[in-house]
This record gives sequence, structure tokens and C-alpha cells, in this order.
Amino acid sequence: MELLFNEINQLSNEHYSLLLDADPSKKLVDDYTYRGLTYEVLLNETLVGVVVLLPTRPETLEIVNVAVHPNYQKQGIGQKIILFAIGYAKRNNYRSIEIGTGSTSLGQLYLYQKMDFRITGVDTDFFLHHYSEEIMENGLVLKDMIRLRLDI
Ligand code: ACO
Repeated sequence: MELLFNEINQLSNEHYSLLLDADPSKKLVDDYTYRGLTYEVLLNETLVGVVVLLPTRPETLEIVNVAVHPNYQKQGIGQKIILFAIGYAKRNNYRSIEIGTGSTSLGQLYLYQKMDFRITGVDTDFFLHHYSEEIMENGLVLKDMIRLRLDI
């Protein structure tokens, strides 16, 4: 499966729909896509995913958004997108790559740990402070963000 990663500067409705799948806050999405690097992921010219990379602390790159279109999930594309982000970080001399996800995002936590990310902390009440609407996932109210890091 040959994926193409294109850096983009204009977000289409299709891009937004993927970005908002990973993060329902349009305000936060607009903020970090403005500051970071957004890549669309194409498979045979079809948009199948997005990823947003943001330099945060010195030598640290954060994957602030990653999403695969529902029709293309569970086929290994998410893993390939994360490998792309790790490759980007290595080429650009970052030392660590970080990602944060909901404590209720059990599949995502599985995926990141499968890719050797380690849990470094908890941003307690992050989703209560930054999101106006309650988020339910896997039958639980989402409150806390789990922070993970991979040293490269
Ligand atoms: N539930 C259960 N298992 C999952 C999930 C999930 N939501 N996501 C991934 N996995 C597992 C897969 O089963 C697979 O396991 P295996 O290797 O043992 O077969 C493994 O993780 C790798 O999965 P991929 O197929 O590579 O991942 P996929 O292409 O489905 O993309 C992603 C994963 C990006 C999380 C996708 O499910 C998605 O877009 N979800 C909605 C948006 C989202 O939650 N994004 C992440 C939010 S956090 C952030 O953006 C920083």
C-alpha cells in the first residue's frame, strides 16, 4: 500500500471532517493547523488521512492530530502515518516525539504503545477545561488526557 504525504496550507471540508474526528474542537484545530505542519495522506489519489505536526519544546515534535477516514481504518494506515511522523522527526533532528490522547481512547492508547510510545503523564481535566461539550467514548465521560512520548 503506497501512501502519499502532501503538506497542505489550505484546509478543505474533507480535511476538516478528518481533523474534527480526532479533535472535536474547531478552535483548537484552527490554532494548531495555523502554527504547525499539516499533511494530507493519499492512497491512489483518495484522501484517507491527515496528520498535524507541531514543534513544542526544544527538540520535541508533537503529533497534535492524526486521523484515518472511517472507511480506511484498521488497515495499518494509522501506523504508517505515525512512522511517517517519526521519520520526519528524525530527519529534522528532533529528539522526542509526543502525542496526547483521551484516557477513554482505548484503541488509540493501544496503537501508540504498540509503536513504543511510553506514558509520561496525565493532563487531568484537560477535556473538561478545553471542550464546551461533554465527550463520551467507550461508555465513559472523557476528562483526562494521557501524554505519551517516544525518544528517537
Ligand atoms: N480501536 C481499537 N483498536 C484500534 C483503534 C481503535 N480506535 N485504532 C487503532 N487500533 C489498533 C488496530 O486494531 C491495530 O491493531 P493490530 O495492529 O493489532 O491489528 C493497530 O491499532 C493499528 O491500527 P491501524 O490500522 O494502523 O490504525 P488506523 O488506520 O485505524 O488509524 C486512528 C488509527 C488514527 C486512531 C483511527 O482509528 C482514527 O482516525 N480514529 C478517529 C480519530 C482519532 O481518534 N484520532 C486520534 C486522536 S489523538 C490525536 O489526534 C493526537
